[in-house]
Amino acid sequence: KNVEILGSVRQQLANLMKESLRATVPELSEEEPVVSACNNAKHGDYQCNNAMGIFSKIKGKSTTYKNPNSIGQAIAKNIPESTFVEKTSIAGPGFVNIVLRTDWIENRIYQMLVNGVGTWAPVLPVTKAVVDFSSPNIAKEMHVGHLRSTIIGDSLARMLEFCHVDVLRRNHVGDWGTQFGMLIEYLFEQFPNWEDIGDQAIGDLQAFYKAAKLKFDDDADFKAKAQQAVVSLQGGDEQYRAAWQKICDISRREFDQVYKRLRVTLEEKGESFYNPYIPDVVQQLREKNLIEESEGAQVIKVDGFEIPLIVIKRDGGFNYATTDLTAFWYRKNVEKAEWIIYVTDVGQAQHFDMVFKALKLAGWIPEEGQLPKAKHIGFGLVLGADGKRFRTRSSEVVRLVDLLDEAKNRSKDELVNRGKDKEWSAEELEAASEALGYGAVKYADLKNNRLTNYTFDFEQMLDVRGNTAVYLLYTHARICSILRNSKKDIEELKKSNSLALTHPSERQLGLHLVRFAEVVEDSVTNFLPNALCEYLYSLAGMYTEFYTNCKVIESEEETSRLLLCEATVVVMRACFSLLGITPLYRL
Ligand code: ARG
Repeated sequence: KNVEILGSVRQQLANLMKESLRATVPELSEEEPVVSACNNAKHGDYQCNNAMGIFSKIKGKSTTYKNPNSIGQAIAKNIPESTFVEKTSIAGPGFVNIVLRTDWIENRIYQMLVNGVGTWAPVLPVTKAVVDFSSPNIAKEMHVGHLRSTIIGDSLARMLEFCHVDVLRRNHVGDWGTQFGMLIEYLFEQFPNWEDIGDQAIGDLQAFYKAAKLKFDDDADFKAKAQQAVVSLQGGDEQYRAAWQKICDISRREFDQVYKRLRVTLEEKGESFYNPYIPDVVQQLREKNLIEESEGAQVIKVDGFEIPLIVIKRDGGFNYATTDLTAFWYRKNVEKAEWIIYVTDVGQAQHFDMVFKALKLAGWIPEEGQLPKAKHIGFGLVLGADGKRFRTRSSEVVRLVDLLDEAKNRSKDELVNRGKDKEWSAEELEAASEALGYGAVKYADLKNNRLTNYTFDFEQMLDVRGNTAVYLLYTHARICSILRNSKKDIEELKKSNSLALTHPSERQLGLHLVRFAEVVEDSVTNFLPNALCEYLYSLAGMYTEFYTNCKVIESEEETSRLLLCEATVVVMRACFSLLGITPLYRL
């Protein structure tokens, strides 16, 4: 369908206010409107906050305006005629409070019901993006940090995709490095018939890694062989390549179990992928005179850092940073990405800071505000109940698959307690347990500002009365059941434009619904999924208030109110989808 993309309500208001600002202070032709939702609904729906800023610019120069308040008055007066502003009022130092026309809100919701929530997608200044996320390391533990990266990265990718951005979901797995020499040699030793062994034969690859490392540290012969193995691998020896491939495949099987549960799709382009491109990229950097020698290594000196960025190690090898410089070059020049974002724990902030600064020196990352833009999306730690880094009781690492399975199994037990196993088929029970369990883990992560540490707590995240996915999924299912119980055909109801927000709690809910677009816009441009979580949680609360105050079924306003219920579930599902949560229609 070819429907007009409207832009958010805030954006439409800003366009209008821009005209008013031009009329109010023609001399300040660059002044951008500052429009935001009112914090206190008593004041209005939105506010325009330009008056004070303008006053400070024209103070002493203007004879027309004596104070910010008089500017606010003028801004309000100069708002052009429109279909959506009902009235304005001026508060304190010139804040212009704006009340929207209710019929306009009603119509906007109605149009969304007819044309789909996709018409509310914000427009972003980017068409292609790389989201580098998850990115665990072969033969090492995939830990909760990788889980956070997977959850946050997937949600950001989903938001970008919703905004029609072509997203390359990149799994930058650590599949290269000197540790592979030791792993391959150990494989040869432990499994002489390694070519024929199944994926399961090695069992726990982490234990295998530890054993190989022990041997490497203790046994000089082995160590020498391992070092030689690195040379053979990097030289492209077929047997070594095959052994490397085998080890990677075993790790991948474990990673995929996590991705399958979370329904996250990723395209792997691991560190090894960029190897063939490294020499050329290094050469280009050399030609720009950026590379110098320091203590036997080849480095790039970066302002603000005591240590330089090592590009070629003393032994001639490349490292993590060399690969990132090269991957950036590839993403920019071959893949033509305009936004390149990296989702890792904040511990890597300095690494990315240095890499980005080096890329700026090379002229590959332009000035702020120009494309391509590179951004490190950092996040904090996951903590255990003891306030320390999350671990199981034995202080062993937590297997992510076990963690996810526990969330699911706890959800299942709860459903069985409520007799759902008798009501539903086994598949339904399974699907609901997964949606609740995995949804709970994701939401518990996403609802926090990503930079803060958060405590992993099953009971909290599965609490049906808290700010949890479980509560939200129940609310959604409850509304679905109201719609079903009405015995009305919603598609039929949609044919009449009879949505009317008469009761104050209907209007409040309606206004919140039409704010969806700007919340998504804020979430994705600031890379903060928690903003969308807050929105969704408030939406559930406002719905409950509406339902408490307004009779739906068999009321005089039934048709309108059912449409409002339908609009609510449509927007809730859009939020779920952006957060990677599977909706449930009955619970
Ligand atoms: N493999 C790294 C780790 O586990 C994360 C890689 C992030 N992406 C990148 N382009 N450096 O810490």
